[in-house]
Amino acid sequence: MSDKINVLLTEEEVDSKIKELGERISKDYAGKSVHLICVLKGGVFFMCELAKRITVPVSLDFMSVSSYGNGTTSSGAVKIVKDLDEPLEGKDVIIVEDIIDSGNTLHYLVEILYKRKPSSIKICTLLDKPERRVADVNVDYVGFNIPDKFVVGYGLDYAQKYRNLPYIGVVEV
Ligand code: IMP
Ligand code: MG
Repeated sequence: MSDKINVLLTEEEVDSKIKELGERISKDYAGKSVHLICVLKGGVFFMCELAKRITVPVSLDFMSVSSYGNGTTSSGAVKIVKDLDEPLEGKDVIIVEDIIDSGNTLHYLVEILYKRKPSSIKICTLLDKPERRVADVNVDYVGFNIPDKFVVGYGLDYAQKYRNLPYIGVVEV
């Protein structure tokens, strides 16, 4: 059975926004290197495209977290399912996320990662739903602010489907 998906942001809109974010990051980190941390699985498509648009030296690492919640709303605390391979000490880190919703996941993640003594941590998200924010997170780079709708594509899933869509869509229910 396939769901009807309405396009919210086209492939062209997403691509040109990522290019813009890459340019901003390259300027902000001139003379430094950036260590990108991808939060799996949703952040992976965005991180690959973003990394290609950054002109300062880039290194990459991956982690996977799950929230202790009831499925649709994250409770707050997060559990590391797959940890990073590399230490963060002395690095300028950017956490790359697909979307920020309540902000709970990132709030806890930042707290955990700061204990590893990076030089800095910034957050870059492709999408933000500011209306939904519960936890306090300082988001440095936002691709698009979007309304409170459930979106898929560009890494985002609905029951593990649609991550591979090259655009952002809303599943019609
Ligand atoms: P937060 O802790 O509530 O900010 O949770 C953010 C996470 O929930 C994201 O990294 C996504 O994995 C997931 N999420 C939130 N909104 C959506 C959506 O509209 N579509 C797909 N996944 C979403
Ligand atoms: Mg995510």
